[in-house]
Amino acid sequence: MTETDKDQIPEEEREDGGTNPVMAEVGAHDTQSAIALVGHPIHAMMVHFPIAFAAGTLAADVFYWWTGDPFWQRVGLWAVGGAFASGVAAGIAGTAELLLVKGIRVRVASWTHAIAAMTLLSILAANWGVRLVDADNVLPHGLGLSVLAMIFTGLAGWHGGKLVFDHGVGIIVSPKQ
Ligand code: HEM
Repeated sequence: MTETDKDQIPEEEREDGGTNPVMAEVGAHDTQSAIALVGHPIHAMMVHFPIAFAAGTLAADVFYWWTGDPFWQRVGLWAVGGAFASGVAAGIAGTAELLLVKGIRVRVASWTHAIAAMTLLSILAANWGVRLVDADNVLPHGLGLSVLAMIFTGLAGWHGGKLVFDHGVGIIVSPKQ
């Protein structure tokens, strides 16, 4: 690419940050994963569990609403507990990445994802809590919280995916590769 070609790219989109000091600072630090198992970022391996459990909770609540069978009430209680526990575990790995890797820490997108994910964990905790207090709290409160949890699962997942696919976070795990 010639210098003239480079001039056609908006400054904030240039890999070297152009002359914008903020973008240059963001681009100056590598984003390789610090919490990885044989080169694979552990957080990315763990996030499937809260996503699947949160979706399973909503499905169980809808089946309970539809059939009135208390079996689905129990499924929902265990599924949301699983979503919260696996979400906290994934969140610990994610938070370690965020705090330890400067290239992740300096990106605004990382904090957007973290805030969406922490909000999701709070909703999952509330959803589990209302059912632990009283198993009959599924309709309407549990179901409402399950819908809200799915919305925030989508938001957190979308922003997590942007970190990987738009910012290349965790893709280069070893300078030798
Ligand atoms: C609570 C604090 C969390 C923090 C600070 C955090 C941070 C991160 C970071 C730094 C990445 C980039 C990949 C990596 O370095 O491993 C990432 C990716 C991702 N995160 Fe989180 N995360 C958190 C919780 C969650 C939760 C609860 C979910 C579940 C919805 C989630 C879903 C994702 C997804 C789907 C990706 C993309 C993974 C891929 O496609 O490879 N994160 N997160």
